[in-house]
Amino acid sequence: MNSVTLHQPPKIVFGTNTIRQLPDDLQSSGCKRVLILFTSPLRSVVDTLSPSFDNLFIRTQSLEYAFGEPTVGYFHSLLKEAREFRPDCVVGIGGGSVLDTAKLIAALLDSKQKTGDVFGKNLLSGRNIGLICVPTTSGTGSEVSPNAILLDESDSEKKGIISPFLLPDACYIDPVLMAGLPPKITAETAMDALSHCIEAYTNKFSHPVVDNYALAGIKLIVENLEAAYKDGQNLEARSALALGSMYGGLCLGPVNTAAVHALSYGLGGKYHISHGLANAILLPEVMKFNLDACPEKYGKIADTIGENTALGGIAKIKSLSVAYGIPQKLSDIGIEASEVENLADLAMRVTRLLVNNPKEVHRADAIKIYSELL
Ligand SMILES: [Fe+2]
Repeated sequence: MNSVTLHQPPKIVFGTNTIRQLPDDLQSSGCKRVLILFTSPLRSVVDTLSPSFDNLFIRTQSLEYAFGEPTVGYFHSLLKEAREFRPDCVVGIGGGSVLDTAKLIAALLDSKQKTGDVFGKNLLSGRNIGLICVPTTSGTGSEVSPNAILLDESDSEKKGIISPFLLPDACYIDPVLMAGLPPKITAETAMDALSHCIEAYTNKFSHPVVDNYALAGIKLIVENLEAAYKDGQNLEARSALALGSMYGGLCLGPVNTAAVHALSYGLGGKYHISHGLANAILLPEVMKFNLDACPEKYGKIADTIGENTALGGIAKIKSLSVAYGIPQKLSDIGIEASEVENLADLAMRVTRLLVNNPKEVHRADAIKIYSELL
């Protein structure tokens, strides 16, 4: 059995309307100046919380996140604004981009470290202020993971910062906040969460304790995506997806992802394809590539989602993304054959994830995987 280290937030609050507890909880933990980073569709949530903060004499500043996946430059612009307010706690309310940014603001707000110093694993020297994460999509699992990703514009590379200091002090996973997500985002983010679970379960460094999270997440996501896709207001389905996503996030610290994510980073970094969409396109093809390295694990995944064979399981996952309107080919999203070699070069640089893959991925393999998707 591999060894494993489990880092998780000390407090995970899960359930409908749990966001309402946040102001009282912040007061109990002694917070007096709270910076709230949010995306514009969540403004009404921030406005709803505002009177409670006022009543508790907690000073707040809202900072709108108005960008796609975060770049180093955009992060620095937000960090500058955050420093002017001098918060003692940062609350991120949004999807993975917002949460990753909130985590890094909290860690670097009064740090002497520069962003470039902390790319990689366990390089952050600490975090001196509070951090709360409130996810509003069911995808990245950032609220329970020690990871954050920034796009470095200098080399178009998506770079990870992995540190226990990026785990929030608490997260509030409230499915009500996900009810307004459009079907397209619901499907793409769910495929990201599904890929976290599958890549953790089939990981070279998998562990029985993480396998439990992974298999529970796979089952919840596959069984509930259709209902949440068809009716975003279905809170039972939203709760199940949120739980599946949380399980996927809990896999990221101890085991993390593998070739799907490594091959998707170039699509995000260079071609600005959204993270969920890139993973959704790559997932079935990478599963096919990995199948002979761990057929029994793919058999178990198939069994978990009601299929009899490993190949049947892979086909079912592909059929899910077809049913929810996710493009199946790189050519459908504007990636030409001439870009495959460059994508493979970018993927080969993501060694921190490639080492986790159950089967070694060479440049020629990456080229073949991308080419199958043209
Ligand atoms: Fe992901």
